[in-house]
Amino acid sequence: MKVAIIGQGYVGLTISAFAGEYFDVVGFDNNQEIVDRLNSGISHIEGVESSVLQQWIKAGRYQATTDGEDIANADLIVIAVPTPLFKDRKPDLGFIDAACKTIGENVNRSVLVINESTSFPGTLRNYIKPAIEKYSKNKLEHLYAISPERVDPGRSDFNQKNTPRLYSGLNPEASEKTRAFYSKFCDNLVEVSSPEVAEAAKLFENTFRQVNIALVNEFAQIAHSLGISVYETLDAANTKPYGFMKFTPSAGVGGHCIPVDPTYLAAVAEEHGAPATFIRRANEVNLEMSKYVVDRVAADNGGSLTGKSVLVVGVAYKPNVADVRETAAELVIEHLRQRGAVVSWHDDVVGSWNGESSAPLSGADIAVVVTKHDDVKVRDILESAPYVFDTTGKVPGAKGL
Ligand SMILES: NC(=O)c1ccc[n+]([C@@H]2O[C@H](COP(=O)([O-])OP(=O)(O)OC[C@H]3O[C@@H](n4cnc5c(N)ncnc54)[C@H](O)[C@@H]3O)[C@@H](O)[C@H]2O)c1
Repeated sequence: MKVAIIGQGYVGLTISAFAGEYFDVVGFDNNQEIVDRLNSGISHIEGVESSVLQQWIKAGRYQATTDGEDIANADLIVIAVPTPLFKDRKPDLGFIDAACKTIGENVNRSVLVINESTSFPGTLRNYIKPAIEKYSKNKLEHLYAISPERVDPGRSDFNQKNTPRLYSGLNPEASEKTRAFYSKFCDNLVEVSSPEVAEAAKLFENTFRQVNIALVNEFAQIAHSLGISVYETLDAANTKPYGFMKFTPSAGVGGHCIPVDPTYLAAVAEEHGAPATFIRRANEVNLEMSKYVVDRVAADNGGSLTGKSVLVVGVAYKPNVADVRETAAELVIEHLRQRGAVVSWHDDVVGSWNGESSAPLSGADIAVVVTKHDDVKVRDILESAPYVFDTTGKVPGAKGL
C-alpha cells in the first residue's frame, strides 16, 4: 500500500516515520529545501530520528517530493498542513485548500483521504470533500475521514503508538479503512460518531489547556499582589487527589496549537451564534502576560529600562524544542524594546531567529527567562546578569512570577 502524506512538518513527518515501517510512504511538501534535506536522510523535526528516515529511504519505503505526480497512484492520503489564522484572527484554510488542489489534480484512482490538520467542526465534510471534488479532473469518488493529531513534539513518554487516536469517516467504509491504517502503529483507536465530534474534541482539548493556562496566569498576578508564592500555592492545591489539575504560569502560550486552535473554536461558535467569551478572554489574558512580565521587570529596576541591556533567555515556545511559532518571547522582546531596553536573546537550541543569532549567556544588566531548556544550567543563568527574572519557575534564586 502506498501512502502519501501532504506536509512534512511536525505532524506529517512524524506520521511518515511511523508509517514507513509498514507502507511505502511519499512525503509531499511544497518546500524544496525541506524535501531535499529529507531525501538526504536528515530530519528537521524533534522526535523523528534521522536514522529512522535513512532506514526507510534505504529500504525504498520513503521518498520526499515536491512533485504532485508522485502521489498519483497513492492508495491513502493524509493531509498534515498548517491551519493558521489570518491577521484578523479568522481561520485561514488556504494551506488546506492548496493540499486539496494537489490531491484533486493528481490522484488518478479512488483513495481514502484522512485529514490530520486541526480545524473547526465541518471542515472535512463542508470544505475538504467539496474542494477535492472541485479540483478533481476525473471526477473520482473518494473516501474521507478525520483523525486529529495529538503529537506533542519533543515528548518521549507519549507518541503515535501509545496516545489514543480519535477518528471518524464520512461513511462506515472510510471509518473502517482509517482504523485499519492507524491500527498498524497506534494501540488505542477511538471511533466517534461523526467527523465533527473528532474535529471539535481536538479543538476542545487545546481550549481546555488555553483557559487553564490563562487562569493560572491570572492567579500568578493575584498571588503576587497578595505577597504569596504562586508556586507554593499551586503545589499546596495539587495535594488534593481529585478535582484539581496543576498548570503553571508563564510569559504566555506559544506553538502552533494552544494560541491558535481555541480561536478556530471561537470563530465557528460565533458563526453559529454561540458565545465564546471565555475562550476569547483566556486568549487575551495569555497575550497580556508578556506585558505584565515586562512591567514587573521594570518595576524592580527603578521603573525604567531605557538603555539597559536585557538578555531574554530561551525563545523557543517550550523547553527542548527549536520551535518558535507564536512564542511568547516575541511579545516580551517587543515590550522590552518599546521601553527602550537594548535586547538580545540566548537560545542555542533555536540558534537563529528573526534575522538575529543566539547571544552568549552573560554580560547583561537584566536577564528574563522565558523558556528554560534542560541543558541550560541554572547557575549560568544566575551569573548572566545581576538581576534575573524567571517566568518558568525553574530558576531558584531568581526573581519570578
Ligand atoms: N505541531 C504540533 O504539535 C501539532 C499537534 C497536533 C496538530 N497539529 C496540527 O497539524 C497541522 C500541521 O501542523 P505542523 O505542526 O505539522 O506544521 P508544520 O509547519 O510543522 O508543517 C507543515 C508542513 O506543510 C508544508 N506545506 C504547507 N503547505 C503545503 C501544501 N500546500 N502542500 C504540501 N505541503 C505544504 C510546509 O512546508 C511544512 O513543511 C496543523 O493543522 C496543526 O494545527 C500540530
